[in-house]
Amino acid sequence: MIKKYGKTIILSAMLAVVAVGSVASAASGKRLYMTCSACHGKDGKTPLMPAYPKIAGQNKAYVLQQIKDIMTGARANGQSVAMKGVLVSPDGKPRFSDEDLDVLADYVAKMAP
Ligand code: HEC
Repeated sequence: MIKKYGKTIILSAMLAVVAVGSVASAASGKRLYMTCSACHGKDGKTPLMPAYPKIAGQNKAYVLQQIKDIMTGARANGQSVAMKGVLVSPDGKPRFSDEDLDVLADYVAKMAP
């Protein structure tokens, strides 16, 4: 009997960890996106300038690639310089880790288009 309860407790503890884990990453996506909302809008579809793109609901792989290309300069349209200036510090160091970018791209992809 005790053994049986023990297993149940361990299992619920594991489920709790999984649940907390996913909440934490959702929260940090929201936090990370604060850097982006000034230009792309809090909801990802009310950009600061008419020429800035709506990004809400765009697929994750594309979002991630565009962010990386803009940061490295592989994508360098007239407008992308504005975004690069915020994402990369003046000495060329990216302000976001690969892990941050993955969380961000996931957050953007899950916004209602
Ligand atoms: C200073 C304003 C600014 C900030 C801050 C900014 N962006 Fe951008 N973003 C732009 C502009 C302008 C473009 C369009 C660039 C171009 O003309 O190629 C763009 C393009 C994009 C694109 C490509 C959209 C497409 O349809 O190809 C994605 C994705 C994106 N931004 C995501 C982000 C994310 C995520 C953040 C936060 C980490 C962010 N941006 C922060 C201005 C900004």
